[in-house]
Amino acid sequence: MKIRFEERKDLKEKPTGNLGFGKYQTDYMFVMDYEEGQGWHDARIVPYGPIEFDPASMVLHYAQETFEGMKAYKAKDGRILLFRPEMNARRFINSNKRLSMPIIEEDDFVQAVEEIVRVEKDWIPTGEGESLYIRPYMFATEKAIGVHPSHSYKFIIICSPVGAYYPEGVNPVKIYVEDEFVRATVGGTGFTKCGGNYAGSLAAQVKAEALGYTQVLWLDGVERKYVEEVGSMNVMFEINDTIITAPTEGTVLPGVTRDSILHILRDWGYKVEERHLAIDDLMKAGHDGTLQEAWGTGTAAVISPIGELYYKGDVVQINDFRTGALTQKIYDTLTGIQWGDLEDTYGWTHEV
Ligand code: COI
Repeated sequence: MKIRFEERKDLKEKPTGNLGFGKYQTDYMFVMDYEEGQGWHDARIVPYGPIEFDPASMVLHYAQETFEGMKAYKAKDGRILLFRPEMNARRFINSNKRLSMPIIEEDDFVQAVEEIVRVEKDWIPTGEGESLYIRPYMFATEKAIGVHPSHSYKFIIICSPVGAYYPEGVNPVKIYVEDEFVRATVGGTGFTKCGGNYAGSLAAQVKAEALGYTQVLWLDGVERKYVEEVGSMNVMFEINDTIITAPTEGTVLPGVTRDSILHILRDWGYKVEERHLAIDDLMKAGHDGTLQEAWGTGTAAVISPIGELYYKGDVVQINDFRTGALTQKIYDTLTGIQWGDLEDTYGWTHEV
């Protein structure tokens, strides 16, 4: 794929201090257009800035929008590393197919990410836990009000230097188990990264925050009985020395971090079960002390210890609201590989 480059003269000042998550954008963005009959064309890296599109653009009405989340890391020896970008490329293909949107071939997706990261390499922060968050996304641009798959799209990649996703950093978060709204059902879009999944989740998020909780834990959409995932990450529970996480059967996001941690845990000899876990059993394990640790996994959140669960007025604290030894070891190992500090025996890091 040929990528045109348009230089800007007025480079921004790089932020200092606490980066937060997604507050700052870099100097450039990758853009590519799609028209039916013509396919993807005019791949370009241009100055970051507002984009113009028609008020009748279909994304604004029927929400054909998908996205990915990835990070670039600067190793101490200067190498610039991505983490399993081909998995994001494949998941993006699956999301786009489900939403009747055109796909981007794996190689083109990875090339576009590599190019924008090369251009923005000086924006990759190097403080503890910091990285360059990469947000590829696609949306429908056809001017039409009738409901049908759009005939034109834009694919854009923007980048943000980031620190921790949660203000808590790598400290335990409090999670609210949602018992009224649901996120996904089998046959729906739960396994995709589409904006609509997140829009539908916000009402529960607002409820949770009003009660002092950081995120929502979703239950299955049919019986509201089994644990699925948290708003911005997959979740894992260590009960009686077994790690349990929800299976990816259509309602749960197949996380890159989730997959990586399951590999690592199995290699360490842990018993890992991808199965349905009833919320009642989870709360019971919390009360009788067999729930040893719990953590979330995600690109943005990395590994986030869970210190408290709230479900219908019942509250359990996990590991006395401290980061557990296993959670810490997983965090250290994964970030060690991602930041290039530990040897990558899996072949997951991808040098740019
Ligand atoms: C990610 O982990 O990259 C995500 O996309 C989750 C969230 C920030 C929406």
